Amino acid sequence: MKAAYINQTGPPDVIIYGEAPAPEPRPYECLIKVAAVDVNPIDIYVRSGMVPAKLSFPCILGRDLAGTVVQAGARVNRFKSGDRVWASNQGFEDRPGTFSELAAVDECWLHPIPPGVRDEDVVALSLVGITAHLGLVRHAKLQPGEVLFVNGGTGGVGSSVVQIAKILGARVITTAGSDEKVLICRELGADLALNYKTQDVDAAIRDFAPPGVNVWWETLREPDFERTIPLLSLRGRMVVMAGRDARPILPVGPFYTKDCALHGFAMFNATAEEQRAAAEDLNRWLAERKLRARIDRVMPLSETAAAHRLQEESTIRKSGALAGKIVLKP
Ligand SMILES: NC(=O)c1ccc[n+]([C@@H]2O[C@H](COP(=O)([O-])OP(=O)(O)OC[C@H]3O[C@@H](n4cnc5c(N)ncnc54)[C@H](OP(=O)(O)O)[C@@H]3O)[C@@H](O)[C@H]2O)c1
Repeated sequence: MKAAYINQTGPPDVIIYGEAPAPEPRPYECLIKVAAVDVNPIDIYVRSGMVPAKLSFPCILGRDLAGTVVQAGARVNRFKSGDRVWASNQGFEDRPGTFSELAAVDECWLHPIPPGVRDEDVVALSLVGITAHLGLVRHAKLQPGEVLFVNGGTGGVGSSVVQIAKILGARVITTAGSDEKVLICRELGADLALNYKTQDVDAAIRDFAPPGVNVWWETLREPDFERTIPLLSLRGRMVVMAGRDARPILPVGPFYTKDCALHGFAMFNATAEEQRAAAEDLNRWLAERKLRARIDRVMPLSETAAAHRLQEESTIRKSGALAGKIVLKP
């Protein structure tokens, strides 16, 4: 089968698109014909070596997939050949990546694709949708009527947070780096969308929510607590989930005297059961057309190196080149 893999970490040029041995599914795994995968910033960190990971080479890239079961192992209970499925949280621990024509996935990580939902859409919402759900529901416990702020409303995580927070009944403030992207944020349902390059974001937040923001979701890798803690409400919650090297100052006084809480999490720590609970909600909202994928572009899997270059430029070097996910099709 064809796959996108690396034999060493390094720049996008280390990515090889070529032949790799087809996986042999174990009894509790399904063999899946992959229809679509997507790129996540974590792929860039791992491929480049920015985040040291235990890799065995050749290492197939990718975390998520959507496709069709072509063979179900003898101990698989929930799926059969012909079922359309999606998965996230692969390419981690002993699970191979997903950037290949065929993938073997333990059924505990598989979710059905609702009828009428496209492979591209479900895969573009897989890792980022589960992340947004875990952060809002499990960690921050967002309540209807609360005010949520998230940076980067057209980003992978940000676009999911905006939409899921609206579904949960929150009033949503978000930002983007251009007026075109601000319009997209409004289309995604944001009540207040601000251009962080040209507007006074803090003043606009104070006007919109004088008692403060109930949940501040920080997508930036450089959280600035000195700026953001004063913008929190009494009992405000801050979610941090990016920036492995970040060592910001935490102004303790303004934080504890408002009964605030800080929630850090990484989606890959959530168990298969916790991820499945999130996936069930995502599936229902996708089927009801309440949740929409924010896809920037679809490319062939053979162009994985170009896709990595683009994601790296956009997320790490902040070119703003992307407004949503890159989906790749084998
Ligand atoms: N902890 C976890 O489980 C988890 C899961 C998924 C992702 N992550 C991490 O979360 C981060 C975001 O991931 P992603 O997939 O959403 O990346 P992404 O699609 O590249 O989005 C990044 C967003 O940041 C915005 N941004 C950049 N500079 C900004 C600034 N100065 N002010 C406000 N917004 C700014 C961008 O807005 P413009 O394009 O409009 O400039 C863009 O929307 C990454 O570091 C990723 O590794 C963590």
